Amino acid sequence: MSDGKVFVPHKMSANEIDNLVDKLTTLIGFIDDKDRSKGLSRLFDDLGQEFIEAPASPKLEWHNCMPGGLAEHSIRVVEFLKEILDVFHPETYDISTIVTVGLLHDLGKVGDIDNPAYVENESDWHKTNQGKYYNYNDKLLPWMLHSHRSLYLLQKYGIVLSAEEFQAILIHDGQYGSSNSAYAQKESPLALCLHQADMQACAFENKRWRELNE
Ligand SMILES: [Fe+2]
Ligand SMILES: [Fe+2]
Repeated sequence: MSDGKVFVPHKMSANEIDNLVDKLTTLIGFIDDKDRSKGLSRLFDDLGQEFIEAPASPKLEWHNCMPGGLAEHSIRVVEFLKEILDVFHPETYDISTIVTVGLLHDLGKVGDIDNPAYVENESDWHKTNQGKYYNYNDKLLPWMLHSHRSLYLLQKYGIVLSAEEFQAILIHDGQYGSSNSAYAQKESPLALCLHQADMQACAFENKRWRELNE
């Protein structure tokens, strides 16, 4: 982002945002465990608006850096994860697990109960010249990986995960995250496929944004 070209974000229409809410509701409906479903509805009562409005990343050149970006990305990860598991591990994981880890792997990107993770950048210069549309919110705990914050929020709402679900969310950045190195080549199939679904979703979103700016 340095040749003087001004890059613009991919923007979602009000209609597209409404569709996200419908899709989200449908996906949550697939979770049949009563306790999990109760925890999720309390979580979305508190954080649903933030989940819908949050970007998936703070910089344009990463992925889905726009309001609605996190929800759209998370839904896409559920869809990709289902497709990947159907090929490599058919009938191994139930839909409740697929929706839980796919939809909530990046939950930590909403921030915590009181503070969003990303705040809009007030500097037009940084937006225009560096594509930096958001800053990390310094009111959050100074450093917590978003995958760890996802798990923190899930336990706060009493959502009990299986060991495989926990591990899949924990290390969904795969070997891009240095703290995941202890898991290298020891990942469960769910963790490996979630990582792949996440990467493919990011690549799709990044490509769409690049094409918009060609
Ligand atoms: Fe992530
Ligand atoms: Fe993600």
